Amino acid sequence: MTGGSLSLALPPVIGHRGAAAAAPENTLAGFRAAGGLGVAWVEFDVRLAADGTCILLHDDRVDRTTDGTGEAAQLTFAALRRLDAGAWFGAAFAGERIPSLSEAIALLAMLGLGANIEIKPAPGAAAATARAAVEVVRREWPARLPPPLLSSFEREALAAARAAAPDLPRGLLVGDLPADWQAQAESIGAATVNCDQRRLDHARARRVIDAGYPLLAYTVNQPERARELLAWGVSGVFTDRPDAILQGLADGGSRQTADATTDNIG
Ligand code: G3P
Ligand code: MG
Repeated sequence: MTGGSLSLALPPVIGHRGAAAAAPENTLAGFRAAGGLGVAWVEFDVRLAADGTCILLHDDRVDRTTDGTGEAAQLTFAALRRLDAGAWFGAAFAGERIPSLSEAIALLAMLGLGANIEIKPAPGAAAATARAAVEVVRREWPARLPPPLLSSFEREALAAARAAAPDLPRGLLVGDLPADWQAQAESIGAATVNCDQRRLDHARARRVIDAGYPLLAYTVNQPERARELLAWGVSGVFTDRPDAILQGLADGGSRQTADATTDNIG
């Protein structure tokens, strides 16, 4: 069978964790930065607080990206809210808070940004995290935005997302492309395959694309690499540096046009 059964309009450049080189990752400031830098979509990571609130945070612990300490799954949303999630990145972002998924969606609606919601469950919480995120999306996702792409490294999360919301597109998220990637993609009804760009070569990329699955690659911060991947047929790249990648693609385009013009003249 061919993949990508759910039709998706994927943008070529997706802000990673918002725009992680420009603003603290997984924050509202990050989404504003990403929107300002010109992307149409952002990627962010969702997990559960102790009271079941869906929050944006990459790590199991809050230590790296806040002024607090401990496992997010052990802290209530009220406790997480007291943490500063911006000062570690830069003084200009002091006072930034860990957002709830609801707050994130409200801002995406205002900014007109689409999203890849990565379900990043704490150990043992894959299905519960997926179900909770789907519930919020079902209730709050604005009809005028494209439906969000739900992805996860956890197959159990993707299976739970499929059961709860079969109509929402899912991305099979992997590091290296596993030998049985297609069976995995089929088993969760994947709309896309999302791979670590460091493990991707032309042959692997074509295998996925030729099987009918749009391929996304993370995390691409060098314009040359973005151009190469897109030339292979990769649908889009996640980047911490949307400005550099968008500029690089624009420059590449104008260089190609200039080359073609020269060729014509020659
Ligand atoms: O979803 C793409 C990428 O974000 C996956 O890796 O660890 O940055 O969440 P990570
Ligand atoms: Mg992520």
